[in-house]
Formats: sequence, C-alpha cells, structure tokens
Amino acid sequence: MNPFKALFYLLMRKRKTQFKPIILVTGCASGVGWALAKLLQKRLEYRVVITAREKSIPKLKEGFIEDDRFWILQLDVTDDESRRSVIAQIEKRWGPVNVFVSNAGISYRAVVEHMCPQDEINQMNTNYIGPMELVRLILPPLRKIGRGKIIAVSSVSGMLAMPTMSSYSASKHALEGAFESLWYEARPFGIDISLIQPGFIHSNSFRNVYYTKYSDPKVALVGDYKDFYSNMTPFVEKMMDLSPTNPKKVAQKILWVIRKQDPPLWVPATWDALIFYYIRRILPRRYLLPFLYFCLPKAQTWAKDVTHKRQI
Ligand SMILES: NC(=O)c1ccc[n+]([C@@H]2O[C@H](COP(=O)([O-])OP(=O)(O)OC[C@H]3O[C@@H](n4cnc5c(N)ncnc54)[C@H](OP(=O)(O)O)[C@@H]3O)[C@@H](O)[C@H]2O)c1
Repeated sequence: MNPFKALFYLLMRKRKTQFKPIILVTGCASGVGWALAKLLQKRLEYRVVITAREKSIPKLKEGFIEDDRFWILQLDVTDDESRRSVIAQIEKRWGPVNVFVSNAGISYRAVVEHMCPQDEINQMNTNYIGPMELVRLILPPLRKIGRGKIIAVSSVSGMLAMPTMSSYSASKHALEGAFESLWYEARPFGIDISLIQPGFIHSNSFRNVYYTKYSDPKVALVGDYKDFYSNMTPFVEKMMDLSPTNPKKVAQKILWVIRKQDPPLWVPATWDALIFYYIRRILPRRYLLPFLYFCLPKAQTWAKDVTHKRQI
C-alpha cells in the first residue's frame, strides 16, 4: 500500500479510538445510580456525567473526584429548566450525549384511595414525564449521528402490580410502554433502546419510600387499610433484605448493556424479575392473580375486621 495512504489510515484509526462516548446518568446519589457511577469512574474509555438533585450534590462531591472525563452536575428530572441546562452544558463542553441512563426514580407506598392528584403527578413526573422529556432532548443529535443508547431503569412493577404500589406501578408501566414504542422508532436511526428490569434489590432504598397524607404509617396503621400496610411494608423490606442482588450487580447489568452491540429491549436484572417474566407468560391469566394473591402475606385475612363483604 502507498505509505501516505497507510499513514492516513493509521491516523484515522487512532482518531477513532480516541473518541470517548459521553454517558449521562440520573439519580446518582444512592443505590443503583451510585454503584453505576463508581463503575463508570474506572472506565477510562468513557466521558461520564453523573447527576443528582441540589441537596445531594455535596454527597457526590465527597464520593467522586471530577476530572477532564468525569463530571458532576445538578439535575432534577422533574424540572424543565434543570433538564435543558444540563443537556446544554454537556453539549457546550463535550458534545451530544451518546448514552443516556435514566435511573432516578421514586416510589410511593399508598393504596389507590390514599393517593391524591398531587402525589400522582409527583410520581409520574419523576418516573415517566421527566425521563421522557430528557429522551426528547437527547434523541435529535443521536439520530443525526446514527448511533447511541437510551437505557431506562424500570422494574418488575412495570410488568406486574402489587397492592400499596399502584402509582409506582403505573409509572413503570408507562415507561415500559413508551420505551417499547421508542424501540421501533429509534431502531431505523441506529439507536438502541433498553429497559433494565430489577425486582427486589438488596439495598436501603425502601427507606426512601414516599408516603402520602393518608398512607403515612402514623395514620394508616389504624385505618381500614391497616392490614395492607402492616403486611406489605415488612414483606417488601424482607424481600429486599433476602435478595442476592445488590445495586452493584444491577449497575454491572447496565454496563453490560452500554457495552453490548445490539442489546435487547428487556433486560431482567434480578432472579425474581426473570421468574416473574416467565410466570406472567406461562400462567393463564385466570390463574395469575389468584396465584400472586396467594403468595402475598396473609392476604386472605386483610380487612376482615372492617369489610361488609358477604363471607360465604
Ligand atoms: N430498590 C429496588 O428494589 C428497585 C426495584 C426495582 C426498580 N428500582 C428502580 O431502580 C432505580 C434506582 O433506584 P434505587 O433502588 O437505586 O433507589 P434510590 O437509592 O432511592 O435511588 C433513587 C435516586 O433517584 C434520585 N431522585 C429522586 N427524585 C429525583 C428527581 N426528581 N431528580 C433527580 N433525581 C431524583 C434520588 O436522589 P435524591 O437523593 O436527590 O433524592 C436517588 O439518588 C429507580 O428507577 C427505581 O424505581 C429499584
């Protein structure tokens, strides 16, 4: 080969390998986001932006050292100005985001009757509307580049609902539906879409659960729904405690998706997620709910003291 041509190709290859994709992660102050940030800090082949709400920024600054490829920014996913500002700052300094990991999320613990419109809006804004608005900001440059990844941390609650978690389930079902559509819409442009589906994670995240005015343990543990809360809360905490999957394992799954060529849309991230996936597909619908109802702690006795339902 002509030596000038060979030198040209060598330089081009070097330029190509020097490109460090830009990864943006939301909700890095704890749990899965924190674990993913720790993993990504060691991966020198990426430029990484980790984000948290204002109150959690000092924690991130203590836990991570910023440098020319690792950056801490403030982002509240529910705030339009905050979303636009983060994307603008990244684009100005480095360029368009290549990999977006939507991880931030909150979970309300309340039966349907104990939610109010403001609680519902807060749940949906954080777990669905905020992430989708970020997707809308990140997609246009990705389409022009012709490659990239959009990854959302969903949940088993995006395929099955549980009592006292209706709103959380609704938000994750919404995310799952939108991402399934997005998979078709993004594929022709060369963009990969994935949903990470953890079940119970061994972590302290149950302490971050949100209560409403009526589901607050101070009032809810004496009302008509007391059996639901007094059984479901310790059940969820126990399942999380017994889970062999910690946030680091979920983060490793996300890293696997980031690195994988043509990753799947649905990625179960814990063993129970895989089991629930198959149960939902194998069990006929008429047996599915009675089976899950049977698995809930003492569900047959819930509300016995307060119901007027005829006991046959
Ligand atoms: N833990 C589980 O068992 C489990 C199971 C299935 C799915 N998931 C999903 O996994 C993801 C991570 O959860 P996790 O277990 O790591 O829980 P976590 O420890 O509570 O982490 C959630 C993070 O989201 C952040 N966040 C909340 N509202 C935000 C907002 N408006 N803007 C920006 N950040 C916000 C929180 O930051 P602040 O500290 O600033 O509040 C927190 O760092 C969530 O999407 C969750 O739904 C968790």
